[in-house]
Amino acid sequence: MHPQILIMTELIKEIEKRKTFGIISHPDAGKTTLTEKLLLFGGAIQEAGAVKSNKIKKGATSDFMEIERQRGISVATSVLAFNYKNHKINILDTPGHKDFAEDTYRTLTAVDSVIVVIDVAKGVEEQTEKLVQVCRMRKMPMIVFINKLDREGKDAFDLLDEVEQKLGLKVVPLSLPIGMGSDFQGIYNIWERNIQLFLEEKKQKVGETMKFDDVQSSDIDEIIGEKAANTLREELELVHSVYPEFNRDEYINGNLQPVFFGSALNNFGVRELLDAFIEIAPMPQPKQADTRIVKPQEEKFSGFVFKIHANMDPKHRDRLAFVKIVSGIFKKNENYLLVRENKNMKFSSPNAFFADKKEVVEKSFPGDIVGLHDTGNFRIGDTLTAGEKLNFKGIPSFSPEHFRYINNADPLKAKQLAKGIDQLMDEGVAQLFTLEMNGRKIIGTVGALQYEVIQYRLEHEYGAKCHYENIAIHKACWLEADEKSEEFKEFARLKQRFLARDKYGQLVFLADSPFTISMTQEKFPNVKLRFISEI
Ligand code: G4P
Repeated sequence: MHPQILIMTELIKEIEKRKTFGIISHPDAGKTTLTEKLLLFGGAIQEAGAVKSNKIKKGATSDFMEIERQRGISVATSVLAFNYKNHKINILDTPGHKDFAEDTYRTLTAVDSVIVVIDVAKGVEEQTEKLVQVCRMRKMPMIVFINKLDREGKDAFDLLDEVEQKLGLKVVPLSLPIGMGSDFQGIYNIWERNIQLFLEEKKQKVGETMKFDDVQSSDIDEIIGEKAANTLREELELVHSVYPEFNRDEYINGNLQPVFFGSALNNFGVRELLDAFIEIAPMPQPKQADTRIVKPQEEKFSGFVFKIHANMDPKHRDRLAFVKIVSGIFKKNENYLLVRENKNMKFSSPNAFFADKKEVVEKSFPGDIVGLHDTGNFRIGDTLTAGEKLNFKGIPSFSPEHFRYINNADPLKAKQLAKGIDQLMDEGVAQLFTLEMNGRKIIGTVGALQYEVIQYRLEHEYGAKCHYENIAIHKACWLEADEKSEEFKEFARLKQRFLARDKYGQLVFLADSPFTISMTQEKFPNVKLRFISEI
């Protein structure tokens, strides 16, 4: 065969094998536990407890050093890859802590689908709502996993209603619990039409799986008892009359979300979830760039940086940029173009990630993530290509919640401070706004915690000192307006003191209160205020 055809055949085969997804949940719903059980199925780890949680434990919120340490662990768990039934599965870790929500939003630009974990007792929680909203906006395929069925929780149908109402989803249950908490007997798998029994006396053990093509079979009464069997039959009837049939296209298009029930801790319902996942979840998808849509099957490599992680060793200012491969084959020591800088770069030690280690690899394929060592060239959102000048779109920035002036506390270290701020912003630790009027710098963050992290890192990694000064800002609003119009000029004249540029040079209005925002919207209808910016 012609070598070119061979390459293309390999590329297509590898793309079809891959599923890249993220697990999202409110902290404590069971994301880490589920991840671990999935890895166990893939044989990627041998025992429970092998995956270190990068979760920021409760009570650690005032101890930012501890948080930095735990963020260090997250390098290892950023991407967890494993093989299962001839598929290569990449799980991208998403921090649950709300102060790092932006990390999560950015990671979601690099996955092709998500699994949403919900605690059966707590139902839909705040973080889940926010994250699902982002996925919904992007029409991302989502599977819902309702976890902790071994505990008392909400009624399955009430929960399905809650998921529909609070998360704005259209659900279709593909499994149903039989009982709950102390009465939990197992799961009826609607997808495969079988019952899997939960053996309580042998905790951590999954019981027998029995196939029932006919739910009327009296065998079911014998196994789970007449009462439970009748309830199951009624509930299945309800499912068939109330919920639509599962349709894969609708799921892929983000219009329908299958729901599974189980208990991650007891490894119950997890295999069913995984089996359904590899059957229905999408392979790597095309991605929109500024000039065109890029398909994974294209021969030439392209990818984008969605995360930058500073090395935990302060002596080496070395960073790891996480690149999601969109198209073609990424090769070690090949020349690639960093489009923003129009700069050619080669990578002699690209890292691929596995469940418990990272390794230098020769090639990676669409859907994969490569970790590239970086000394300060990359910025979140950057595009790398085999030469084509295109930029992938869609890395979001949200208005920060907190704002403070950052001032230099050591005049001899002004350069170090500027460089440090620049690089920390490239990593996406916080957002920088420079006032148009006087060039003063304002740092905006999602959580108050980041200010301590920034101060600490500036001092220890860059030898620079800073202090902060309070400023009353409510929200950053990106502006969309005709800058030559009279209306805009009038707006700019009145709001001069509150106009700034973000890191990308975009004009931002720093509004001091919700009242100001609504007044501005009323008075200047053609000056549009945006609370999310996509680069
Ligand atoms: P997260 O990553 O979403 O934050 O949650 P994580 O997996 O760490 O789980 C949070 C807690 O819930 C853990 O208990 C975990 O053992 C428990 N859990 C997860 N799945 C189930 C389940 O199916 N049933 C029950 N009963 N509990 C479950 P923890 O006590 O906070 O932590 P640990 O000391 O067990 O690690």
